[in-house]
Amino acid sequence: MVNDAVVENVVEFDAFDLEHRANPYPRYRVLRETAPFCPVRLGAARVTVATTYAGCAAVLQGSEWGRGYADGLNPFRPGVAPGEVPGGSFLGMDPPDHTRLRALVSRAFTPRASLAETPFVRLVVDRLVAAAVDDGGLDVVAGLARPLSVAVMCRLLGVPVADAPSFLGWIQGIARGTDPDYLLSPADIVVRTACARDLGRYLFELVTVRRVAPRDDLVSRLVAIQRDQDVLTEVEIVELCALLLAAGLDTTANLVTNGVLALLRHPDQLELLRERPELMPAAVDEMLRYDPPSQFVTRVALADTTVGGQSFRRGDGVVVLSAAGHRDPAAFPDPDRFDVTRYAASPPARRHLGFALGLHYCLGAPLARIQAEAAIGTLLSRAGELRLATEDVEYRPNAALRGPASLLVNIKGDS
Ligand code: HEM
Repeated sequence: MVNDAVVENVVEFDAFDLEHRANPYPRYRVLRETAPFCPVRLGAARVTVATTYAGCAAVLQGSEWGRGYADGLNPFRPGVAPGEVPGGSFLGMDPPDHTRLRALVSRAFTPRASLAETPFVRLVVDRLVAAAVDDGGLDVVAGLARPLSVAVMCRLLGVPVADAPSFLGWIQGIARGTDPDYLLSPADIVVRTACARDLGRYLFELVTVRRVAPRDDLVSRLVAIQRDQDVLTEVEIVELCALLLAAGLDTTANLVTNGVLALLRHPDQLELLRERPELMPAAVDEMLRYDPPSQFVTRVALADTTVGGQSFRRGDGVVVLSAAGHRDPAAFPDPDRFDVTRYAASPPARRHLGFALGLHYCLGAPLARIQAEAAIGTLLSRAGELRLATEDVEYRPNAALRGPASLLVNIKGDS
């Protein structure tokens, strides 16, 4: 997976060891200080990790980089046959297929459509935060972040909230499976396949129902595009909806949870944000930089190429470790400091890679921001004193879509 010239400097520790899930940043630092494109040994596999901001950004934006499934090049999913795309979604495609499908979804899921969800988001957040204040505490994951993202995604797609218990399990199996295969157990891979199949069946039934009785939701809009313009297949609609559900649930929930955790661990920043709520959009950007829900994405060299003086052969895979790039002192002054004013400065700080860059830039970024701003802003304004119930935060095993399994917080009095 890496060319011979760099193999000698292989870092011997497992950079994504589960034991370091709660705080992977010291290990990321070792990788960055070893090399901008750092060879890493993981069991039998060797991969290259992009560790600097410049290296991550260059790979994300380089036209020689992509998924490589069409030609069977992707080394992160070695079992996938050439031409097959895992999940079938455009997240796993390169142009021109990616361009066509992304354009179709963008027409049905615009930033304006996301903005229109703001009143609904506020309503859900108000209800959840009021319950937490009454209870004198909450699990931020189970009591705020997850139910919010579930309610929003269900409304957007037109999926009944009552079905959440089934599809949440499937989504979690799929989210775990977004880690490269060498980080997964055989059981994880079996679960990923079963979850993708069950979610697909469920969404197929939903598409059939919406075809007969359309509503004002994304599934119905995609069905209408298919009927009127004959540019989408039924299978593609199901795959697009599965992608949106899988991409929009855990990521957004992790942003809210990681954001609350960062504030509770930096009480001066929490107080500053309470005093100056207008800083909330900038604070959300800082949360995405400081402790991003998407720690890394993967890319494959589609042709022989050179980045930052490092050459790659067609088919070489790179882990774009944005979370390490975000702590790169060459890109962000004092990068280990959590500073809710960092993105309020004019001119703004260098953009973070939390939603990626380039062709695959996150389509749900506006919707994720709306939810994070509302959830964290309302919690700060309505709850009195907020404290971590325990410093010992347990993380789920996911390396790429990283986040706590739960986050227990005590609330004392109304503010
Ligand atoms: C792509 C992060 C929320 C839909 C991406 C990518 C990242 C990302 C890093 C690029 C993946 C890659 O290049 O391999 C996030 C984060 C979120 C979030 C951190 C929340 C904080 C959402 C939401 C939705 C969504 C709410 C939908 C409602 C998508 C889609 C893509 C994508 C459809 C694929 C874009 C493409 O391949 O062209 N997201 N996302 N995301 N995201 Fe998000």
